[in-house]
Amino acid sequence: MFPFNAASPQSTAIANLFIAIAVIAAVILLIVTITVLWAALRFRHRPGSTEPAQNSGNLPLEVTWTVIPFLLLALVAFFTVRTMRAADPPYDGATQPSVVVTGHQWWWSVDYPQAGIHTANEIHIPVGERVLFALRSADVIHSFWLPTVARKMDMIPGNEHYLWIEVDEPGVYEGTCAEFCGAQHAWMRLRLVAQSRPDYDQWLHQQAATPAPPTSDEAAAGAQLFQTRTCVNCHAIAGTAADARVGPDLTHVATRATLAGGVLTNTPENLARWLADPAAVKPGNHMPNLQLQKDEIGQLVAYLETLQ
Ligand code: CUA
Repeated sequence: MFPFNAASPQSTAIANLFIAIAVIAAVILLIVTITVLWAALRFRHRPGSTEPAQNSGNLPLEVTWTVIPFLLLALVAFFTVRTMRAADPPYDGATQPSVVVTGHQWWWSVDYPQAGIHTANEIHIPVGERVLFALRSADVIHSFWLPTVARKMDMIPGNEHYLWIEVDEPGVYEGTCAEFCGAQHAWMRLRLVAQSRPDYDQWLHQQAATPAPPTSDEAAAGAQLFQTRTCVNCHAIAGTAADARVGPDLTHVATRATLAGGVLTNTPENLARWLADPAAVKPGNHMPNLQLQKDEIGQLVAYLETLQ
């Protein structure tokens, strides 16, 4: 649980600030609670007691309880500004972003401009390297949030924001949209996969390749269906005529771990469920029900599973 599992230098800075402020606040709460309890008991009303001496206009006391909080807040402000610089290093304006993430209702497109790769809902980065992300939105305001890795960053239509991301250890880091963006805001999940340099290079190489044409008859029929039904109006598959950018790029869809912005794990059965009735899986999402027959769904699934 954050702040105890910070996975990057940036989130470690945020975690340390959080813990330091929490400790300061806890100590103050303790002092105030003990003092109030002590005063309430020690000076409680007893039979026959008279009003104690009143203490107003005490200048030394008033200065003390003004100066101590002032110093405490100045200290917190100092560490906050230092943390902001560490947690969100400024963009120099010259570096080209390696990864462009665009928020959509309700999924993420992930593009690697230099490598010419398009994918969705899953970001791969090399471990231990500082990677510049550009964040955009295709429709409404979203918020890009990988809690253990980096600060939250809003995605604003018409704007581009930049975020340096760096992860210490290989692994999968869960993320989510952190700004209410419509019916399926809760199902706008993101996976960051941090890999060693060689593994990452291999992933890049594989994602940049055009998938081989299907060999089985069923998958070939699916490929035909894909091109002739309305799939091509929204989706792209490299090496085919499909190049629309409305929905997720499907060039290597079979290599991804989840479907539909994280609602389903990516299995042939779940893919069939999704194709049969997208609204039943994720109500309100923008993928239409194509009224596919059972054998058509089988053919499309066979084809999409070849997209490795
Ligand atoms: Cu996108 Cu909430």
